[in-house]
Amino acid sequence: MPPLLHPKFQRITSAMATLVTGAAGFIGYHVARSLLDRGEQVIGIDSFVPYYRLDLKESRLAALQHPDFTFHRVDFAHMADLASALAPHPISRIVHLGAQPGVRWSIDHPHDYAHSNLAGQLNLLELARRLQVPMVYASSSSVYGANTKLPFAVEDRVDHPISLYAATKKSAELMAETYAHLYRIPLTGLRFFTVYGPWGRPDMAVWKFTEACLKGEKVALFNAGNMRRDFTYIGDIVSGILACADTPPADDGRVKPGGSVAPHALFNIGNHRSEPLMRLVQVIESACGKPLHLDDQPMQPGDVPDTYADISAIAETHGFAPTTPIDTGVPRFVDWYRKWTAN
Ligand SMILES: NC(=O)c1ccc[n+]([C@@H]2O[C@H](COP(=O)([O-])OP(=O)(O)OC[C@H]3O[C@@H](n4cnc5c(N)ncnc54)[C@H](O)[C@@H]3O)[C@@H](O)[C@H]2O)c1
Repeated sequence: MPPLLHPKFQRITSAMATLVTGAAGFIGYHVARSLLDRGEQVIGIDSFVPYYRLDLKESRLAALQHPDFTFHRVDFAHMADLASALAPHPISRIVHLGAQPGVRWSIDHPHDYAHSNLAGQLNLLELARRLQVPMVYASSSSVYGANTKLPFAVEDRVDHPISLYAATKKSAELMAETYAHLYRIPLTGLRFFTVYGPWGRPDMAVWKFTEACLKGEKVALFNAGNMRRDFTYIGDIVSGILACADTPPADDGRVKPGGSVAPHALFNIGNHRSEPLMRLVQVIESACGKPLHLDDQPMQPGDVPDTYADISAIAETHGFAPTTPIDTGVPRFVDWYRKWTAN
């Protein structure tokens, strides 16, 4: 059945100009690239937060250069700057991926999260309201906190975040619910589960383990590796994001995944496989052709022991079906990493 969109939102099916926030970031880069490959116009914004090496963000941006790509270096937590940078552009939808990520960083840098994830989310919702366009935004599996019922489902209670990062992501979902209710803006929140792949993030395990393995250096392993993660390959994540952006939730009064009766849907987007961390270590060792030297460290505050995504809601609504296990995705990352670091 075609989605029951209010007529004012029908135009998103034609004349696509998508605003992608965090376009110099890992997931934002890939979404912008895929939209350009589909022949669409992309407006990218990013403020180049120095949370990790900026040369990687510069390289991603250089790889996005295309006649249909326009970029603005702007901090979206400042509404006036955001509005003036975007004023000349006809924007028909928003994919909001910019944020301050990282559970461990949020312990010592709480204000970075209030700035980008709270003020930033409010500003992007305001923009969506002013422009009357739908928005897909990034949430996180970290909202499940220390929930023990696995796999995590969007119907589960998520009232007990164990890091400030998780609290800001849960808050972003609550703000979105209010905007969908008050202003009937179609909004989709995606709870990502440990995304990895080419152009990935240097603060995450797949990058850190690969780097240490290839250099023959020791790397910290927390909780003796007694953790499980639902590692999701970037190509699968992008397919899910674009499917959600292409079909915003209808304002039909029906209950959406996540429980809203406003046009606001929440989905898990994971691989639906919870891998022991030590299996990731083995796959990385095999892709690098070397052993990884591990330095045992205690469990870190804010870290959760297990993540595992119930993806039935996004599978039923958008036909999402991840196809990339770590045995395929990790060697692709290692190949990319070797080439990128050789340049
Ligand atoms: N990668 C994962 O495994 C993962 C998991 C769960 C959730 N997420 C979420 O997905 C989204 C994308 O994550 P990512 O892995 O691409 O992270 P990333 O850090 O690579 O990209 C985020 C980008 O946002 C930009 N940014 C931050 N604050 C900004 C601001 N105030 N104004 C403008 N730009 C700003 C940063 O400079 C960065 O380039 C984030 O919302 C993140 O919280 C990611």
